[in-house]
Amino acid sequence: MEEQIEHKGILWGTNKRVAQYHIDRFEEFIAQSPERIKQLCTNDDGRLKHIARAEHFDKNFIDIIYKTAHAARKMGKLPGNSFLSSLFPYKAAMNFFKQPSSRTLLSFYRAEGILGMDRININDITTSSQYKGESDSDSLRTTSSYFDVVVARHPSINFDLLGVYVAEMCSRDFRYINAGSGPGEHPTQGLLDVYTISESFGGNLDHKVIAFVGDCLRGRTIHSLAKIMSIYEGTEIYFVAPEELQIDPETERYVKEKGVVIHKETGSLKDIAPLTDIVYMTRIQNEHGGDGEYNPKFIFDQRILDSMREDAIEMHPLPKREEIAPELDISKDPRIMHWREMRNGMWTRVAILSYLFGVDEQIREVSDRMDAAIKK
Ligand code: CP
Repeated sequence: MEEQIEHKGILWGTNKRVAQYHIDRFEEFIAQSPERIKQLCTNDDGRLKHIARAEHFDKNFIDIIYKTAHAARKMGKLPGNSFLSSLFPYKAAMNFFKQPSSRTLLSFYRAEGILGMDRININDITTSSQYKGESDSDSLRTTSSYFDVVVARHPSINFDLLGVYVAEMCSRDFRYINAGSGPGEHPTQGLLDVYTISESFGGNLDHKVIAFVGDCLRGRTIHSLAKIMSIYEGTEIYFVAPEELQIDPETERYVKEKGVVIHKETGSLKDIAPLTDIVYMTRIQNEHGGDGEYNPKFIFDQRILDSMREDAIEMHPLPKREEIAPELDISKDPRIMHWREMRNGMWTRVAILSYLFGVDEQIREVSDRMDAAIKK
């Protein structure tokens, strides 16, 4: 593999002068105000055109995703129904993954197939021209010539905005979805998590007490979900982690400014779990450094589950390691949500793609008509 110039964890090609030109432009781009960045991710009609950061979401958008995912899921259960797969015969998606993934990659791939899209995965970079020294931005720009949407995962925390930067640079109308940007954000996981919470609490997202447990510092799913939950009334958050893995200053500042009551706990999960509606577990994200050893006082086991309220739930974005006790794998307790959460991901991603290409309303209307016909 050709050695490339790296800046902010992003590859900028092999030539110093060319790389510096783009690095300077990208620095200028990301230095713009959050409001301006949001504007660049939004169409003139107010709908998002890129899914880059959770801070771009609002209640209305989350409600649309929830209702569309719900409608698509119901339709998906009807045998022989070809409505969804007839929606995007001329659209194509590229899944560009420079970090490992099982759930996000597979669920996007399936969601694209459910909607009838042509799609391809690039998740082995040695088979791409990056191997010959092509920069990350040129790789993304290349995909925009062949595909209507790029779903990208990357180890850099700044990759959430690289797709938006590239979209601004080229004239083609392509959509960018951040499928995990280093230890920063994972906004589509946040959407599937809030779908799961909404399903579990009869659609009521207000006044939820949520404990984020494990690696709050580098857990990108925590950062996105904490920001999403800060949209709702009366959210209270416990960040339960050892001192060195406590919540990052940026997420802490953001949720506090939105009025969320936060508690940083370094003690034991057993004291916090009974106080919550949701215990959201995460593994140690040691792909970003350090060892992966998990402190036993933060393990979720039967004793913790027993201490929780009857209507409270456990969540985990997965993959999991030792932070969930193995005996819970054979438990049928409906409060254990992590496998259901993963399944919800596929329907949430159907809803996200439908929204980006403007057919979400059609899905909801057809689903309502089918419901009405069944009831007759
Ligand atoms: N939750 C999640 O992002 O899982 P993957 O890393 O397997 O995609």
